[in-house]
Amino acid sequence: MMTTAITNGDIILEFSYLLSAIFFVVGLKLLSNPETARRGNLWAASGMLLAMITTIVLHRNADGESIRVANLVIILGAIVLGGIFGALVARRIKMTAMPQLVSIFNASGGAASALVALIEFSNPENESALVTLLGLVIGSIAFSGSMIAYGKLDGRIKDLFSRWLTYVNLLILAGILFLLVLVLVSGMPFETKQTLVYVLLAVSLVYGVSFVMPIGGADMPVVISLLNSFTGIAAAMAGFIYQNQAMILGGIFVGAAGMILTLLMCKAMNRSLINVIIGAFGGGGAGVDREKGIVKEISVTDAAVMLNYSSRVVIVPGYGLAVAQAQHICSEMDQLLEANGVEVKYAIHPVAGRMPGHMNVLLAEADVPYEKLVEMDEINPDMPKTDVVVVIGANDVVNPAALDDPSSPIYGMPIIKVHEAKNVIVMKRGMGKGYAAIENYLFYADNTRMLFGNAKDSLQKLVTEIKAL
Ligand code: TAP
Repeated sequence: MMTTAITNGDIILEFSYLLSAIFFVVGLKLLSNPETARRGNLWAASGMLLAMITTIVLHRNADGESIRVANLVIILGAIVLGGIFGALVARRIKMTAMPQLVSIFNASGGAASALVALIEFSNPENESALVTLLGLVIGSIAFSGSMIAYGKLDGRIKDLFSRWLTYVNLLILAGILFLLVLVLVSGMPFETKQTLVYVLLAVSLVYGVSFVMPIGGADMPVVISLLNSFTGIAAAMAGFIYQNQAMILGGIFVGAAGMILTLLMCKAMNRSLINVIIGAFGGGGAGVDREKGIVKEISVTDAAVMLNYSSRVVIVPGYGLAVAQAQHICSEMDQLLEANGVEVKYAIHPVAGRMPGHMNVLLAEADVPYEKLVEMDEINPDMPKTDVVVVIGANDVVNPAALDDPSSPIYGMPIIKVHEAKNVIVMKRGMGKGYAAIENYLFYADNTRMLFGNAKDSLQKLVTEIKAL
């Protein structure tokens, strides 16, 4: 291996990586508000583009050689094909399938990092075996785990809950650790180690599956954020292998942001992270079968009158609002009520919908002012003095079983306490269950009235009625 002198090109390359990192930071900052999120995405993507272009043009290997033409053709071919595929999928995907798309992207990131590690393990110039193997393990878990998360979000894979899976998971983790130590410290021939690395890859892929399979009910948000973080960490490991500052920094940003989100989701779900890593919590039971009350319906006219002559209305959006794409008409109703002197706020549960921040993004799309969105903890104390709560396509996040039924799979999860309001109107198509697939006794409560129908149609009718009052 020759060591080459540092050239201007090398300095420009390192500087471009620093610039890319700055673009990532600005992008992340802008992503923290729905109004600036689009620009944030553009900033981060531009940083990535800059790092890619300067790497292709300026990178030299240890012998001082630039990129070979054959490799350049492969790289550009992959970029063009991947770019076209990504653009087509992103344009065609329905808004409601966005969480699935995010899982697929996450899986791709994990797979890419695992492949880098797999190839680089055999590279004699690679001096970081530990980092390489960690990248392989974490990237593989992120890949297979995200694929299972995709299947679950898409309704193709059912939860597999069983206590014994917890022990199987612990056993697989121990196996991964054992293989890692064996490859790193034993004096076995390199060829044997290479074979073991393939075994490590297979076991890590299996762990990704067995770790996500039992996580069900309402606990998926935690695991989705955690997998996101894993992908970032695996990318950072790949960056360490290549000593590429942009990859290291980009990976660390994703890993850290994902970890912060994981902790926030844990707090939102009232779960400990260790529970998630070991797996097999949530899901399972269906709660105690309590005596149901009577479901009472409300007509559109009565609902319009009730809302129009209230002083304080709180709207609780959920996954059904996204499915119905009813955010615009919901915003129209809110403006109409405000114009008639009603105070309207939105109560946002951190795990409502199917991806972190889903409701914030959805309502921002309909230009609902950010100040009207109130976090769960902040709005809960005001529930008893709220005249009407309108639950639109939400279910699990307003299920009182989380508070008072220790046998429920969602017991302990903080909820929006809509049952404490004076009146509750629930808009949904029928008596369908939410993501956690459990009964919701809110629908039978004395102060609850159901307005059945597709949320968009019901809201449209309500707007017409309110205008006619
Ligand atoms: P869910 O509990 O999933 O309930 C959604 C409700 O919307 C359903 O009960 C459904 O009832 C109704 N609905 C569906 N389409 C509708 C339409 N077109 N019009 C009107 N209503 C419609 O939603 P949630 O309260 O937002 O809770 C989210 C759940 O997803 C939680 O359990 C959460 O843990 C889980 N989860 C969240 C995430 C993230 S990161 N946020 C990720 C994965 C899972 P009908 O069929 O009767 O209409």
